[in-house]
Amino acid sequence: MADSRLATTVFLLSRLDKPVLLEGPAGVGKTELAKSLALATGRKLLRLQCYEGQDETKALYDWDYGKQMLYTQILREKIGQVVADAADLEEAVTRISAQDSVFFSERFLAERPLLEAIRSEQPVVLLIDEVDRADEALEAVLLEMLAEQQVSIPEIGTFTAKHAPYVVLTSNNTRDLSAALKRRCLHLFLDYPSAHREMAIIRSKDTGLPETVSRHLVEVVRGLRELGLRKPPSISEAIDWARTLAVLGSPELTERQLSDTISVVAKYDKDVDRALRALPKLLDPSFAAGGGGGEAETDDDAGKSRTSSAVHDEDPDEQESGQAVRAARDQPGRHGRGYYGEKTPADDRPGPVRQVSSSQGERSFTAKLGRKRPV
Ligand SMILES: Nc1ncnc2c1ncn2[C@@H]1O[C@H](COP(=O)(O)OP(=O)(O)OP(=O)(O)O)[C@@H](O)[C@H]1O
Ligand SMILES: [Mg+2]
Repeated sequence: MADSRLATTVFLLSRLDKPVLLEGPAGVGKTELAKSLALATGRKLLRLQCYEGQDETKALYDWDYGKQMLYTQILREKIGQVVADAADLEEAVTRISAQDSVFFSERFLAERPLLEAIRSEQPVVLLIDEVDRADEALEAVLLEMLAEQQVSIPEIGTFTAKHAPYVVLTSNNTRDLSAALKRRCLHLFLDYPSAHREMAIIRSKDTGLPETVSRHLVEVVRGLRELGLRKPPSISEAIDWARTLAVLGSPELTERQLSDTISVVAKYDKDVDRALRALPKLLDPSFAAGGGGGEAETDDDAGKSRTSSAVHDEDPDEQESGQAVRAARDQPGRHGRGYYGEKTPADDRPGPVRQVSSSQGERSFTAKLGRKRPV
């Protein structure tokens, strides 16, 4: 269920062959978009789930070490013949290394999602999920791939995509992504939907909750989002709540049933307290009529229920918890000059020297180098 902004972005993705970067809070349909795109276009979905410490051996390719070992064991006799009449150890090593290309060939290549997307015979949708969790080194690998639509493996050569994959990147904003990555993508901030679209989504999920009750529930959920909770209820939680209430067989929303099931939408103790205190007001029909928007609202109003504009009455401890984690990750000077696309006085100071593993240089890939190991 897309609004026109999202639909336009996806249309442009398919025409311009540009990746889409979706940012936004949890549960607003970022991952779902890639799944739906694959379903609608009949393309296979390849998914790279990003996490801290992930390197290109998990994202791009690796050598199938187990298979290489197995083959060397089975071929022990043959390998013995190759070095049998070698005069000394050095000559034996030279002869073995001349056989490198046998073991560093496509046969022993372990594809990871990025390479698989490039080498696929069929067009695919590539979902690079939660890219903000990955380290900058992996972001650099992505930049190369997204820009060139190709991957070079020093031992084999360069693979270029036969069919440009539809690439969807998602981020929950746990850290800022580089300007370079954003520049290569069509960028879209997905927010909570308008009441109108949220109703359409809930309707499409066949929750079993009657229409009028669902509509009332959407108003309550939108009201909860305005409370400045640590984790405001997302679309998926609204769907879960509708399903839960349908199971309980509610002909109308009652404070009792909502408070008994509040844990479906409130995931922290303090959020639960705050939500319970707000329920009587949110259930009051005059609130829904006045503040919540209603189904008459169109998609142009989408996202007006941003929690950032909410009236916050939370305690400082709680606010700090999320912010502190993010601040710790985003130390000034962590990135080089102009990384975020804007120059600040801090940019004029040299940043810390980053330690890069030696294997990273060896594995780096560009079209221009096109290195091929001599056979
Ligand atoms: N626009 C939408 N249309 C249809 N269903 C939606 C939409 N947005 C969200 N949903 C529903 O909400 C669920 C959660 O969405 P999804 O997993 O895509 O969220 P997300 O933004 O990727 O969250 P997270 O950041 O936690 O990964 C989906 O399984 C889907 O059922
Ligand atoms: Mg997701």
